[in-house]
Amino acid sequence: MQLTSEQKRILDGAEGPLLQECMASLIKCGEALGAADFVPVTSVHTSILNLPYLANCFGPRGRELTEADVRVLRERLSKQRVPVRTTTNPGMMDLEQWRLTGSDDTARQTVQEALDTARQCGILTTFSCIPYLTDNIPALGEHCAWAETSAVMYANSFLGARTNRESYETSIYSALLGITPNYGMHLTENRRGTDLVDVRVPVRTTREWGMMGYYAGGVLGLGIPVFRNLTRPSMEDAKQFCSAINVSAGMSMVHIAGVTPEAPTEEAAFGGNAPRRVCVYDEAARRSVEEQLNRDPHGKVDMVYFGCPHATLYELKELARLLEGRHAAPDTKLWVMTTGSIKAAADRLGYGDVIRAAGGELISDGCLNIFYNYGTATRPKIDRIATNSVKQSFSVQRAFGSKTVFAEPEICVEIAVEGGY
Ligand code: F3S
Repeated sequence: MQLTSEQKRILDGAEGPLLQECMASLIKCGEALGAADFVPVTSVHTSILNLPYLANCFGPRGRELTEADVRVLRERLSKQRVPVRTTTNPGMMDLEQWRLTGSDDTARQTVQEALDTARQCGILTTFSCIPYLTDNIPALGEHCAWAETSAVMYANSFLGARTNRESYETSIYSALLGITPNYGMHLTENRRGTDLVDVRVPVRTTREWGMMGYYAGGVLGLGIPVFRNLTRPSMEDAKQFCSAINVSAGMSMVHIAGVTPEAPTEEAAFGGNAPRRVCVYDEAARRSVEEQLNRDPHGKVDMVYFGCPHATLYELKELARLLEGRHAAPDTKLWVMTTGSIKAAADRLGYGDVIRAAGGELISDGCLNIFYNYGTATRPKIDRIATNSVKQSFSVQRAFGSKTVFAEPEICVEIAVEGGY
């Protein structure tokens, strides 16, 4: 890769071993992916689960990580400052309500240490999977290095920002260096549409946007689909769509003519490419998604779950409206996930109280997936779960073997009140 004199200096260790390691690792990634050089970034979205997890990015090569390695890393990080806006993906617990989700004090301490270290570095520990709606909102053409597949999709497709699907490690390196390998989504020629999705049924609700994305992702897998026959989505529709499409695919971008900043028309979206494949989303396709995401849905429901991706303030307002004066059945948990800043706003506006008065819990900074697949928290009984989220329905089926009801929020609320479906 072509390096600037400053990048060479860092590679030679002039800025210390931590940045030297970041530079050497990013060069290896860039070379493997065909990048000619680096591009400066203005925004990073990364992940800090706990200190050992963080230390693995810089860990000893060829031997197990030790406590001494973690200590050294902490010392080095505490002297470093990230040069660009950097936010974090959901973590392993809500530090204010960690007992609620089955965490223990030892785990809490390791998370707290990571959080303290990250803050010292200047990282905004937002623990949010929707940075693009709250604290990290890049504009058209901004180069970013983001981890979190749904956020990458939103940034490229709805903001016109430019980011590849970064790993946890590469995003940390980019946060510390302020650069990323210049390939993939950073280059205009790689952002053109490759396939067509012909939508032949109305897509009316946020859940339906998710269903359509999930179907198209499953059929196409890779590429940059251009969607035809869609109206403008709300930010909640777009959020659900971006998370659902990558449940079944490995994509970084889509085009919706008139919505994607770089695609005023379908012709502009393709940029001279002829579509390689055509995916038709029709009534049969829609039914097949319903069948996949509802698994043995009838019977007692242990948990009703909202907030994947994290709920917006508007979604919490709507949920509070549905829950006002109602109460969840005694053996059915009602969990709602959001970010810390949205939770604070929801509490101030009274929506949090309505949710809690209905027997629900408003939880921030994490989600089921991360609490129980990455953390050590004890998972509550979730034999059957009801949710309006494609990603959550899919992942609890796979990760926990749960039965699922995949339904609109109104129906999920009725299920919470009745305790079953
Ligand atoms: Fe966000 Fe967790 Fe869902 S990271 S997209 S709430 S699985």
